[in-house]
Amino acid sequence: MLKLDLSKTLGMVSDEELQNLKPMAELALSNLTEKKGAGSEFTGWTRLPEDYDKEEYERILKASEKIKSNSDALVVIGIGGSYLGAKAAVEMLTHSFLNSVKHTHRPGCEIYFLGQNMSSDYLHDFLEAIEGKDISVNVISKSGTTTEPAIAFRIMKKYMEDKYGREKARERIFATTDEHKGALKTLADGEGYETFVVPDDIGGRYSVLTAVGLLPMACAGIDIDEVMDGAGKAMEEYLNADFSSNDCMKYAAARNILTRKGKDIEILVSYEPSLVYFAEWWKQLYGESEGKGGKGIFPASVNFSTDLHSMGQFIQDGKRNLFETVLSVEKARRDFRIEEDEKNLDGLNFLKGMTMNEINRNAMKGTLIAHNDGGVPNIIIETDEINPENFGRLVYFFELACGISAYILGVNPFDQPGVEDYKKNMFALLGKPGYEELRKELTEKLK
Ligand code: PA5
Repeated sequence: MLKLDLSKTLGMVSDEELQNLKPMAELALSNLTEKKGAGSEFTGWTRLPEDYDKEEYERILKASEKIKSNSDALVVIGIGGSYLGAKAAVEMLTHSFLNSVKHTHRPGCEIYFLGQNMSSDYLHDFLEAIEGKDISVNVISKSGTTTEPAIAFRIMKKYMEDKYGREKARERIFATTDEHKGALKTLADGEGYETFVVPDDIGGRYSVLTAVGLLPMACAGIDIDEVMDGAGKAMEEYLNADFSSNDCMKYAAARNILTRKGKDIEILVSYEPSLVYFAEWWKQLYGESEGKGGKGIFPASVNFSTDLHSMGQFIQDGKRNLFETVLSVEKARRDFRIEEDEKNLDGLNFLKGMTMNEINRNAMKGTLIAHNDGGVPNIIIETDEINPENFGRLVYFFELACGISAYILGVNPFDQPGVEDYKKNMFALLGKPGYEELRKELTEKLK
C-alpha cells in the first residue's frame, strides 16, 4: 500500500494549484504511455510489469537457483542504473548484515558490488572479502562499454579463470547487456556466457525491474514474483486513476509547484537504514532525468534519526530553499520492546514497554512538526511495511512520477548528455586513441 499525504506542505501546495497543473500532468502521462513525448523510444518501463519476456524471467529464476546452489556469493558488476536498483533492493529487503550473518539467516547468497567506482583500495578490500568463497559474477552494462564495470570485469574474468579454469568459469559468469551490440555482448557471446537482456526501450535508471535488478535480487533470496506483482498493482492504479485520486500524478505536480516557489532541493527522508540505498537509487533517477538545460530539482537524501545529528540543523534552520519527501513506514519487520531497568540510571524508564518502532515513529512525528515549524514543506509517502511487493510499488510510483514531473518541467527524462563530458576528458587524459587534440587542450588547462 502507498498513500500520498500533502497536508504538511504548509499550504504551499493548495488544491487550486494542483488543479491548475492537472492538464499538464495528464498530458505528461498520456505522452509517456502513448510514446509522444521527448525520448519516447525509452518508455518501455511504463508497461514492463505486464509486458516482459516471460521466457527470460524463467531463465533468471533458474540461473539464480544455480548460483545459490554453487556459490557463497554473487559479485554484481555495474554502475549507475546498472547497479543502484539491485543494491537498493538488496539493502531494503534482506538482512542488514547480509554478507557477515550466518547463512541460516539469509535465503540467498552474499552479494558484493564491484565496478561502481575506480578505487584500488576498494578492489583490494573486496578481493580479501571474497577469499576462500565460491563465487559467481553478474556483469551488467547496457552499453557494454562503460569504463568502471569494464575494468572490474577484466579483473574478475581473469580471477575466475585462474580460480576455476576457463571452462568452469564460463559456467559462473552471467552477462546482462544489450540484446545485439556492445563490447560486453561480443565478449559474452565469444566466451559462451549466459546472457540476459536490457531491453532497447528501457534506459539504465529505469531498468531495475528487468534482468538488471531481478537476477541479483533473486540470488539474494528476494521473491521477485512479489516485486513484479507490486509493480503491476502500481501500474494498474497510476495509469488508470483520475488526477483527483492519482497519487503519482499529484506527487509529480506537488514537487513542481514547490520548485516554482523557490524550493529547489528535495530531500528524500527515511527512518530505516535499509532505505539508504533506495534513496541513492531515487537520487539517480531524479537527478539524471531532470537535471538538464539549467533546470531541475536537486535530489538529496537523509536517513533519520542518524542524520538528525548531522544535517538536522541545516534542514531546521538553514537556507529555506528545500522541501522534504518523507518515506513513512508504519510497521517494523521485527520489533524490539524496551524493558524496565531497576536503577533507571539513564532515566529511560519512561520508555518501558514501548517498542523501538514506536520510538522511531514518534521521532518522525516530532521531526515533521519541527521542520514544518522551521518553514520546510513536507510531502509524506506512507507505506505499511517494507516488503518485496512494496518495493515494486515504490519503484513504479517513483519512475512514473519522474517521467511525468520531467515532462511538466519541460525536459527529456531519458537522456543524460551531461554525463559524457567527464568521460571525454578522462579518456583524453588517459591517452585513449582518438582523443589526441582534446588531450593537448586539457594539458594546457591543467598547467
Ligand atoms: O541511467 C543511465 O543510463 C546511466 O546511469 C547508466 O545506467 C550508467 O551510466 C551505466 O551504463 P551502462 O549500463 O551502459 O554501463
